[in-house]
Amino acid sequence: MSATPTRKFTLLPMLGHTKGKRSAVTCALKCDNACAGDVCNTSSNSYFRDIASATMSRRAALGLGAAGALAVALGSAVTSPETANAAGLSKAAKEGFGKSKLKFTAIPSVDAAVDAVTVPDGFTWQPVIRWGDPIFKDAPAFDLNNQTAAAQEKQFGYNNDYTDIIEVPGSKGNRAVLFSNHEYTNENIMFPASMPAEQVRAVGAAAHGLSVVELERKNKNKPWSYVQGADLNRRYLNSTVYELTGPVAGSALVKTVADPSGRAIKGTLGNCAGGTTPWGTILSGEENFNGYFAAPGTSAADKRYGLTSKATARQWELDDPRFDTRNAGYANESNRFGWIVEVDPFDPTSTPKKHSSLGRFKHEGANVIVAKSGHVVAYSGDDERFDYLYKFVSKDKYREGDRKHNMTLLSAGNLYVAKFTGNSPAAEITGTGAVPSDGSFDGIGEWLPLVVDGKSAVAGMSVEEVLVYTRLAADKVGPTKMDRCEDVEPSLHTGKVYVACTNNSNRGTGTNEAATEVNPRNQNRDGHIVEITETGDQTSTTFTWNLLMVCGDPAQGDVTYFSGFPADKVSPISCPDNLAFDSVGNLWISTDGAPSGIGRADGLFKVTLDGAERGKVEQFLAVPQDAETCGPIVHDEERSVFVSVQHPGEDGTFEAPRSYFPDYVAAGSTPAAGQVRAPRPAVIQVFRG
Ligand code: FEO
Ligand code: CA
Ligand code: CA
Ligand code: CA
Repeated sequence: MSATPTRKFTLLPMLGHTKGKRSAVTCALKCDNACAGDVCNTSSNSYFRDIASATMSRRAALGLGAAGALAVALGSAVTSPETANAAGLSKAAKEGFGKSKLKFTAIPSVDAAVDAVTVPDGFTWQPVIRWGDPIFKDAPAFDLNNQTAAAQEKQFGYNNDYTDIIEVPGSKGNRAVLFSNHEYTNENIMFPASMPAEQVRAVGAAAHGLSVVELERKNKNKPWSYVQGADLNRRYLNSTVYELTGPVAGSALVKTVADPSGRAIKGTLGNCAGGTTPWGTILSGEENFNGYFAAPGTSAADKRYGLTSKATARQWELDDPRFDTRNAGYANESNRFGWIVEVDPFDPTSTPKKHSSLGRFKHEGANVIVAKSGHVVAYSGDDERFDYLYKFVSKDKYREGDRKHNMTLLSAGNLYVAKFTGNSPAAEITGTGAVPSDGSFDGIGEWLPLVVDGKSAVAGMSVEEVLVYTRLAADKVGPTKMDRCEDVEPSLHTGKVYVACTNNSNRGTGTNEAATEVNPRNQNRDGHIVEITETGDQTSTTFTWNLLMVCGDPAQGDVTYFSGFPADKVSPISCPDNLAFDSVGNLWISTDGAPSGIGRADGLFKVTLDGAERGKVEQFLAVPQDAETCGPIVHDEERSVFVSVQHPGEDGTFEAPRSYFPDYVAAGSTPAAGQVRAPRPAVIQVFRG
């Protein structure tokens, strides 16, 4: 390898905070400066704010009484604390909302400069697995100062985001598989400035992808630890081949010189959030894939997806021609990313899938529920300012216990995009977040068809074009421009769907669309949560909606809304990102970007959805300096919570760290085996202890 003394990495001095999100490093490495550039969605599809007929009650719209609503047949992820028949009522849905065994006193919000994990009194935490931990029998121990691509390929990757832990059937609760995806890399803190650029690229690439690792514990009262060399352990790398399913498989739009079949795609990129299906597979969203490609940048599609001709942040195009779509034979390579990926964590030899039926955009993730009809429904947000919310409805029906069949369900079905209509007068949506006179941000909505019964519902576009250029197709049918949909997650208790709109600092600025009832704040710094109630069945094309909360810090004078719960009695919360539910129906929200909003560390929050305390927000934990809280898992029945801690200390450098999470090796001391004095993204378990 020829040494390159100066790393071609120009973002390192670019520290400081940017207008829309957290640090400039996050913006450059994670999102390819999505918030610094022009808004990708310049379409003029209009928003119809007022509809006089939008006054029907949600109950009437459902055609259900309260008991009827609970009788909607709900699916249940096998991993969920709501263990139940997958296609039937969840146990919790039958019983209604209950009291959680996970009792805690909310922590005060934590200063953004604190380099520690803060948990409630009576709880403790420890890492389950960290960046660099060896996964396979022959994997070397992590050696911070002597990193190689060959070692990293056998170790846990970087910046774990979506995470789930699924008990291995028949293991009596003492064995599980952990899935994590690895969204992106922070080269500035992973590697010394002296490391040759080729080596930086190679190790960084090997730290992307996905990981599956087996966990073990002595009993349910003991924390999990990972098992090096276990049978199910697997790394998914840039060389791993994914089978493209659905109408785009074999299309000319995805063929390249290296894959003339248009069906075999190497690697997955920008994996952000995800979901676990009722049949026990994992979905992961390819989000900011555009940042990995140099492109002509001139076509309408390139512009709409943020593909530009500038050198990419990591410059993998220097090693592999497919990462520059101007290279002969690779014009379609970027069309092979931006999909929902499905993997089977219980079969380390299985071929992972990319499902074209769910459309191509910056998928935050996808979450599946089984409708009363038996069809499966997947919700997915496009995480970009002024982009859209989508829903997929499977062609075929779920079959209890037929895992092979169920693993085909995401390959064919209908695709829709959401249009929200408010019911309050336009003059009452002031852009401050102040609640209109009817007491609620609410209204009705439609799922506008993009693909129905295998046919395109978009004039002038084929099914293949709709699914590859989904943003352009959606622009033509007039959906609602949202404030960056992150996780979209249906509650297995009620069937209601929760949408985390993380922020949108550009709303109402310049020529950008101003506040609407569903995105009611201009220069939306702190985000909000939308609550959707489908009309009768999860496959419906109409719904009602309301905002569960408008986030912020009431103590700092922010205009907020917490479904009527007193604002002086909530934990301040900003930039909601990932969502999860506990076994008794409470919503849990992890945040990403609170330092740029309320100026406090990111964290994990419990939100009560039912009863007199609906809207109460209680902070459970805070993550270390510069970190984002991802992938929450709430095993409340075991009094245990897991989060992925992503990009701790990312505003620092390798030579001048800003975080020592999770090993916290004291200066001058000798690290214990496997530990280093440097920040490492990690999955942690918080438990009573
Ligand atoms: Fe990777 Fe949408 O956050
Ligand atoms: Ca209203
Ligand atoms: Ca996210
Ligand atoms: Ca985010």
